[in-house]
Formats: sequence, C-alpha cells, structure tokens
Amino acid sequence: MPHSQLLVNGRRRTVEAEPGATLLSVLRDRLDLTGTKYACGEGVCGACTVLLDGKAVRACVTTIEEVGNLPVVTIEGLARNGKLHPVQQAFLDAGAFQCGYCTPGMILEGVALLAHEPSPDDARIKREFEGHICRCGTYPRIVEAVRLASKGGRRG
Ligand code: FES
Ligand code: FES
Repeated sequence: MPHSQLLVNGRRRTVEAEPGATLLSVLRDRLDLTGTKYACGEGVCGACTVLLDGKAVRACVTTIEEVGNLPVVTIEGLARNGKLHPVQQAFLDAGAFQCGYCTPGMILEGVALLAHEPSPDDARIKREFEGHICRCGTYPRIVEAVRLASKGGRRG
C-alpha cells in the first residue's frame, strides 16, 4: 500500500493509505485518533469535523490528497500542557453534551468560528452550527458554550 505523509496535531506522520482514502479513515484506522467520529459518512452531520489549515472540514469527505501538507488538528490536539482548550472547557462548564458523540466536531467548529470571529452573537453561532446534528438535542447549550468561550464571554 502507498505511503503518505500527514501533519497531524503538530506531528509529521507516515501512514499507509490507498489513493483516495478519506482523512477520517486514516485518522481513526491508521493513527488511532478515534475522537473524530464517524456517523453519516456523507458530509451532512458534522460528527467528523476537524481543522484543516485552521478551517473546519468534514473528514469523511476529505481525501488525503486534498490534505497534502496542510496541518490537521483533531480533538486530541487541542489541549496544551494538560490544560483543556477554552472551547473544550466551556463545553464542560455549559454541560453542552449528553452522549458526547457529536461533541468533538462541535468543539472544532467552535474553535474555527472563534479564530476568525472572536465575538459572534447567538444568531451567528447558530448559523455556524446549522450543518451539525446533535441527536441528543443539546443545541441551546452548545450555543451557550461557544458564547462562554468567545471574547466577551466569561472566558474571553
Ligand atoms: S460523518 Fe462526516 S459529516 Fe457525518
Ligand atoms: S450529545 Fe449526543 S449527539 Fe450530541
């Protein structure tokens, strides 16, 4: 099987992968980074969201060729020196999950939003999360968590 080089969570990784393999399959099956979740597999639910060059992308419909040398960040790469990322901490503080399956994707979407828009209002936050499905219905708390983590929120 051919080898590819990926930059994941700050580390250069060499993986075996077929041409056209999805980033999601490589993260989960080759690198054991199972925090990135598989749900619809068609780009419609957001469970597999990761950061690619700082932008939120759906790993189930992103091929490793599209990734190339761009940096990938997964939920496992957010904490620093044992300290949760502010968006992770805000999700905990707001109790913004039940089963937690959608949560890694939600958190990475929030990180991407706040990186380019530090003080979004609730309407903007809701718009950003429109394409994310939470079967447990925790949407109001997700909005609250992102607000908490925003500039001007309690953690701003
Ligand atoms: S699993 Fe990728 S968008 Fe649903
Ligand atoms: S917390 Fe269960 S799917 Fe969102």
